Amino acid sequence: MDALQAKQRIDQLRSELNEHNYRYYVLAAPVISDFEFDMLMKELEQLESGWPQFADPNSPTLRVGGEVTREFPVFVHVRPMLSLSNVYSAAELDDFDQRVRRLTDAPFHYVAELKFDGVAISLHYAGGRLVRAVTRGDGEKGDDVTANIRTIRSIPLQLRGDGYPDEFEIRGEVVMPVDGFRELNRQREEDGDAPFANPRNAAAGTLKMQDSAQVARRPLDCYLYHMLGDDLPAGSHSGNLTYAASWGFRVFPHYQVCKNMREVWEFIEHWGEARQKLPFQTDGVVVKINETDVQETLGFTAKSPRWAVAFKYKAEQAVTRLLGVEFQVGRTGAVTPVAILEPVSLAGTTVQRASLHNADIIQNLGLCLGDRVQVEKGGDIIPKIVGVEPGTHDLFAEPVKFIENCPACGTSLVRNAGEAQHFCPNAKCPPRIKGGIEHFISRKAMDIKSLGEGKTGLLYDAGLLHNIADLYELTADKLTGLGKVYTDPVTGKKRTIALKEKSVSNILEGIKASGQIPFERLLFGLGIRYVGETVARNLVARFPSVEALASATFEELRQVPEIGERIAESVTAWFSDEENRSLVARLAAAGLQMQQKAGGITQLSAALEGLGFVVSGVFAEVSRDQLHALIRSHGGKVLSGVSAACNYLVAGENMGPAKRKKAEESGVSIIGLEELRALISGQGSV
Ligand code: IVH
Repeated sequence: MDALQAKQRIDQLRSELNEHNYRYYVLAAPVISDFEFDMLMKELEQLESGWPQFADPNSPTLRVGGEVTREFPVFVHVRPMLSLSNVYSAAELDDFDQRVRRLTDAPFHYVAELKFDGVAISLHYAGGRLVRAVTRGDGEKGDDVTANIRTIRSIPLQLRGDGYPDEFEIRGEVVMPVDGFRELNRQREEDGDAPFANPRNAAAGTLKMQDSAQVARRPLDCYLYHMLGDDLPAGSHSGNLTYAASWGFRVFPHYQVCKNMREVWEFIEHWGEARQKLPFQTDGVVVKINETDVQETLGFTAKSPRWAVAFKYKAEQAVTRLLGVEFQVGRTGAVTPVAILEPVSLAGTTVQRASLHNADIIQNLGLCLGDRVQVEKGGDIIPKIVGVEPGTHDLFAEPVKFIENCPACGTSLVRNAGEAQHFCPNAKCPPRIKGGIEHFISRKAMDIKSLGEGKTGLLYDAGLLHNIADLYELTADKLTGLGKVYTDPVTGKKRTIALKEKSVSNILEGIKASGQIPFERLLFGLGIRYVGETVARNLVARFPSVEALASATFEELRQVPEIGERIAESVTAWFSDEENRSLVARLAAAGLQMQQKAGGITQLSAALEGLGFVVSGVFAEVSRDQLHALIRSHGGKVLSGVSAACNYLVAGENMGPAKRKKAEESGVSIIGLEELRALISGQGSV
């Protein structure tokens, strides 16, 4: 192949892949399988690496990110990004209509569209290519986050069709769909990171990440709603939206051109309910004058256009009584206050608990026990207390006080300067120890299933488990006959746990089998703060044994990809603690994997980067663990169940029909070992 042929094939592949991306992510109607798509992508990657002179930042191969931005360049908006004035009722909406009609006699329509609850973004296109993406910032100037925006698959890097202006800007909202948000938070909590309060914060935080490869792994999406430029194709907002959609932008299809405010109000009422079923969050309806010339007549105030207004839905609220406050101690020692409420129904569910997050929130609310409190389920997933009903305190009302001592062990709590959270500093605090052991045996760490369901608590209470190393000194003698009656905290029912011969031997076998769990999972299981699954994997790739890791300096740790100061500090502090060192020595003496075995998970290629796999059923040639290791070693992600993040289901024999059905329904490709091998393309052998 000569250079000309290579260039032609590269161009052809890029345009085909752009088209397939559009069909998949914008239309949700793919015409080829994921496998075929990956094959085209692979071919393009290979050509691009062989012909670097044809590199292009807008190539579909670069959607997986990789560019690291230390500081985002500031960009001054060509036209300021204004906000909208808000209204909260039909009467206020009528006032807006009256105001408009006083300013113009021209006939006009309104367009009603949803108000997306995300982060505003301005995209610049020249010659049909994305050239820049800027956040709103202060409205005058924002951050150039182009590298991160390129990873959002539904944003076209190259426009489709023709007829687009040579230069224009299009604005919209970057959102994180609720399902993806929940999964992200689940992962963060598992990794010891603070969860995001709501999808909007998660989207904003993601757009500001320095490493675009990490952004690429987050489930962002983008809806476009406003085109700006000197030669726009249509004389109306709705006309421009139609064009935008035809060029490949994701435009939410359910906007409505309305003749009058009555029709606008019907739209608002309809979506007030219907929006609950959307995959992303919305917080209102934006009402805009459709005709561009009328928009121009009305113009802008200093802050917002006179031709548009945002109707904001009220967050659903209920009033109930605060019965008490519970303080929970987590695995890391963080103490979280939880409000116990008289059960009340709110937005379709019964609410009896609400997180109070930290001491400042309790103080700012001025909470007293017995108060009638307003509970709200707004953009946040967990209900929160937003206020106290006026006049609710009686003379004897008792303010809620944040505890000074740990509810579990009595140690004085500490609160570090600049932190909102209180911590129990006692490493021996029972919930910390129990939480630590539960983490160690959890599925993604040592996976000792036979010890689940409260059995660790039983062993702890019986004085047999003080730390994770004690697990390996348990014997049948110590375990047999242990039992306890528990009151289930959820149902209030009494349950008996009793260890009979069979469960004792299951427990001991499970513990023994954990001796084969690879070092990176053991490291994750140690529960070192900030060392989640991914961090553990990265650390082990660079320090393949516990000795190497324990003697690594802060600076050496900082050299590892994605290891920042916070993590490096936490790892060095953990290994410099004498008790932790002796714990490690005991685990080593118990025969656990304290170094990565040859054939363990070292990074062999990035062939499966950005792809999610579920392995199901049995395989004649390999174990499921081996397949997991293989997928990970080529950069793929192994998932526990078929979800939106899953691209392939690797199916062996006797795979459950439910999994197959779910995969088929959600368009996940079902493949066998051969296809997996092909995906890796000879770079790994099963
Ligand atoms: S139009 C000059 N349309 O709401 C008019 N904005 O509170 C520009 N927003 O900054 C905005 N959905 O981030 C428009 N359908 C929609 C919107 C929308 C969400 C956001 C946008 C804006 C903010 C104003």
